[in-house]
Amino acid sequence: MLKFGVMASGSGSNFKAILERIRSGEFQAQCLFLISNNGNCGAVGYAKDYGIPVFHISGKTHPDGAAYEAALLEVVDRFDVDLVVLAGYMKVLPSSFIKRLAGRILNIHPSLLPKYGGKGFYGMHVHEAVIAAGEQESGATVHLVGEEIDSGRILAQGRVPVLPTDTPESLAARVHEVEHQIYWKAIRDYGKCLKG
Ligand code: GRF
Repeated sequence: MLKFGVMASGSGSNFKAILERIRSGEFQAQCLFLISNNGNCGAVGYAKDYGIPVFHISGKTHPDGAAYEAALLEVVDRFDVDLVVLAGYMKVLPSSFIKRLAGRILNIHPSLLPKYGGKGFYGMHVHEAVIAAGEQESGATVHLVGEEIDSGRILAQGRVPVLPTDTPESLAARVHEVEHQIYWKAIRDYGKCLKG
């Protein structure tokens, strides 16, 4: 069975959507840990609800960069996961971590990459830019994590219309819904490719 860990910093709605699919039996996998740099975020609350061990690893808990990197790797090694799933993880990952887990870290981004990705395109900034550019379509992208931000092979995309009446908030809500539908399937399908 696919074993993965999650890294998240925020509300955790993607994390929750994945856990719900596992609980319902639609997605046969085991989530073995949550790493968060924010000990009070929504994602930590969901991990506790589902009995998933939480590791709070941040610049505060580990002010020394090398100790921070070692702490991340120690968790991944201890649980021996197939994949690490980023679900709204707001810190840039150390390159040692990315190299060590090459091809085994997935991320979801709230735009149709390669559009509206890279430095500065996070959170509401993405949706503001999409609306300002007059795009008629937006969506979400699941991709492998490479050393460049929002780079890496695209594994899945979900599309939504941009309506003339949209605000960044209304568009964000529509994109979030599609994220919840595509992320668990992309993890499942990529996991099958990896494990055969
Ligand atoms: C999502 O929009 C995702 O695309 C981005 O971070 C956000 C996380 O949202 N990487 P949530 O915490 O899962 O609600």
